[in-house]
Amino acid sequence: MADLKATLNLPGKDSFELPIKQGIEGFDVLDISKLGTQGYFTFDPGFLATASCESAITYIDGAQGILLHRGYPIDQLATQSSYLDVCYLLLNGDLPNKEQHSNFVQTVTQHTMVNEQLSTFFKGFRRDAHPMAMLCGVTGALAAFYQDSLDVNDERHREIAAYRLVSKMPTLAAMCYKYSVGQPFVYPRNDLSYAGNFLHMMFSVPCEEYHVNPVVERAMDRIFILHADHEQNASTSTVRLAGSSGANPFACIAAGIASLWGPAHGGANEACLNMLEEIGSVDRIPEFIAKAKDKSDPFRLMGFGHRVYKNFDPRAKVMRETCHEVLKELNIQDPLLDVAMELERIALEDEYFVSKKLYPNVDFYSGIIMKAIGIPTSMFTVMFALARTVGWISHWKEMLDTPGHKIGRPRQLYTGSAHRDFVKLEKR
Ligand code: SDX
Repeated sequence: MADLKATLNLPGKDSFELPIKQGIEGFDVLDISKLGTQGYFTFDPGFLATASCESAITYIDGAQGILLHRGYPIDQLATQSSYLDVCYLLLNGDLPNKEQHSNFVQTVTQHTMVNEQLSTFFKGFRRDAHPMAMLCGVTGALAAFYQDSLDVNDERHREIAAYRLVSKMPTLAAMCYKYSVGQPFVYPRNDLSYAGNFLHMMFSVPCEEYHVNPVVERAMDRIFILHADHEQNASTSTVRLAGSSGANPFACIAAGIASLWGPAHGGANEACLNMLEEIGSVDRIPEFIAKAKDKSDPFRLMGFGHRVYKNFDPRAKVMRETCHEVLKELNIQDPLLDVAMELERIALEDEYFVSKKLYPNVDFYSGIIMKAIGIPTSMFTVMFALARTVGWISHWKEMLDTPGHKIGRPRQLYTGSAHRDFVKLEKR
């Protein structure tokens, strides 16, 4: 690519050239890594215009509403692929051939059990603990159980950590749910699909045979695909920053879970359903739209808006179609869907939302589908974390696979006290 440069004219200094790095798609970037030599840092709280790394995993075009995983559009993957197929793609860079797919599925299937001691670990939690609190804890605890193959500088060890996490997250997620409802943990079964096994671990009970509903199984797998990865979002950036110090991979994923839990991020699916339930009926929608527009009111329309998408979130479109399919095939009439559809219609016509380019995001419809499947609201963000684990660990691997990667260490604009001498207590 052409050797492009930008010229910076700083007060009292000679002009300074910044190399321009070009990507395959999307924005080019100004390489400011040498800017410190000129006595300046850049300032970008919230990283609105800052690229933290190079990556080949996911590409998002926020203006066009485009999402590609290793070049493949999300709508094609969601409707034609499977979650484990997408996991292989994210982790390895290409879709697997038949043999690679079969071997990957077998490897994941045969590592879904967790150390039996982890069951005891749960007993320390209150039964009413939020499932995300438990998931954060037990995922970090994996570091205490899987102490082999943890040289993060060893490529094979990184691959083992990735496979363990993709395999075991559904088991841990289901354990969080079972513990919260006081039912016995259910062991994974190797004769079921990834999504089917998760549903089995979530909903089967010892008293009767559990049959996986193929409609629900397909919807679950699609929900996992739609949440698998999303470039350098807050939780993925958290995992990268934690991993940049060489930290334990399980601890890094626990850090990602903590970040995802926030209502501005992955916690929005739970918050969105709670909001739809609070709205309750179509005639109360104007009241909540007004609250969302009121600057003095911290209320925001959960499931709307996005840092990158200033168009429809392509995942929301697939999620909306899936929502209608699942409710129809399960013969469920959910008034919340009516509220959601009317809220979407009104918001998309409202000048405030149009001018600020606030569209429904991935969290807007997912809650309605998960509620239809029988997943409690408190488990919604656990589902997001389960699905996003492959994205987190793919970025962790990509960072550590990159020769010469550095520990992340941002600088700051200091606005505290200038130098001053200590004053003894008796003189204050
Ligand atoms: C996810 O980054 C990712 O990729 C995340 C994610 C992923 O897959 O990892 O896509 C998953 O987190 C999706 C987003 C889920 N969060 C929500 O649905 C919560 C509601 N949304 C907002 O909190 C907000 O839209 C954010 C956090 C998603 C984005 O916030 P930004 O980019 O920091 O934008 P902003 O807060 O500066 O908002 C811009 C303007 C503001 O008004 P002004 O100050 O310019 O007057 O839009 C307003 C905001 O007040 N605004 C909203 C709004 N979202 C933004 N007003 C009402 N309701 C909203 N939902």
